[in-house]
Amino acid sequence: MTDTAAAAPGTPSPIRWGILAPGGIAHAFTRDLQTAGLTVTAVGSRRQETAAAFAAEYGIPHAHGSYEELVADPDVDIVYIASPHSHHRAHAVLALEAGKHVLVEKPLTLDADEAVAIRDIAAGRELLAMEAMWTRYLPHMVRIRELIAAGVLGEVRAVVADHTQSLPVDPAHRLNALELGGGSLLDLGIYPVSFAWDILGPMTEVRALGRLGETGADTEVAIAAVHESGAVSSIATSSRAAGPNTAHIVGTDARIDIDRVWYEPTSFRVTATDGTLLEEHVSVVDGRGMQFQALCAEQLLREGRRDSDLLPMEQSVAIMAALDDIRAQLGVTYPKER
Ligand SMILES: NC(=O)c1ccc[n+]([C@@H]2O[C@H](COP(=O)([O-])OP(=O)(O)OC[C@H]3O[C@@H](n4cnc5c(N)ncnc54)[C@H](OP(=O)(O)O)[C@@H]3O)[C@@H](O)[C@H]2O)c1
Repeated sequence: MTDTAAAAPGTPSPIRWGILAPGGIAHAFTRDLQTAGLTVTAVGSRRQETAAAFAAEYGIPHAHGSYEELVADPDVDIVYIASPHSHHRAHAVLALEAGKHVLVEKPLTLDADEAVAIRDIAAGRELLAMEAMWTRYLPHMVRIRELIAAGVLGEVRAVVADHTQSLPVDPAHRLNALELGGGSLLDLGIYPVSFAWDILGPMTEVRALGRLGETGADTEVAIAAVHESGAVSSIATSSRAAGPNTAHIVGTDARIDIDRVWYEPTSFRVTATDGTLLEEHVSVVDGRGMQFQALCAEQLLREGRRDSDLLPMEQSVAIMAALDDIRAQLGVTYPKER
């Protein structure tokens, strides 16, 4: 297992990524890693043919017909877990127990108890575990945090954001199937929840109302929360109807308006309360932007660190607990909870 290994003085050997579950998002992630010059050495699927086709498409040297074989591959240092969220805990634990670091797709798990399990196993084995909330790592978010830290907004009082998409209605699709962790909250709503948490700190009080679809999975959720500082957030999510997908941070001296699609590389404006434009930012990045979280993971590993500054495991666990609370208010339960 590579940690900070160096091939020659000043030339660190690459950190080697393994892709677990080559579905839709694994394609986008792998493309972004390769565009950024990172090294993907292996892929593991439940089916050998799927792994082989994925490996051929991206020129990946090792194709494994099971997740067990992937995590046992000595040429893999860190495993990207891209299965449905119902399986994140099992697959992350499989990789951690094989001695691999993990970057786990969002949401980290189905609920807070599962998130605690990943946190504890990673800590016990001194391995890195990170939730792949890629938005946190995007350049426009880095600049926004700088502006807030510099006091440009004054006291930040509110965040308003939506994540709304028109997605498949098929009851068997993972978005709707409860056995696969279906529901707009865990798939989409987690973005504005995590964003509000990042900007305003922990949610101390949360109220949620919503609408459930045919399978019992939530299709629309409206969330109102109070954060530790007293600031409030107002969040909407839908898996059936596409809205503006903008986000706004409101301070006593100025506000930030993040353009659609706020959770992808995008632009924003900082406008003073009197209407003066203070800053305009436009992000231009290669690909979809999923490489920044991977670059952060690699930097942490090279520095021998085991937790992300931008989204520590403890915060991922706390966010899962808030999502548990919201789901309880909506009446959404997953099969394992019944
Ligand atoms: N960061 C983002 O922007 C983003 C976007 C979309 C999704 N995601 C997250 O990524 C994860 C995967 O989403 P996706 O859209 O890529 O899903 P997907 O296209 O359905 O792919 C998931 C893959 O998981 C594997 N899998 C293992 N057990 C499975 C099971 N019981 N049922 C179905 N598939 C199973 C399958 O791969 P094999 O059969 O080949 O093993 C499948 O191709 C989710 O947690 C989701 O929240 C993140």
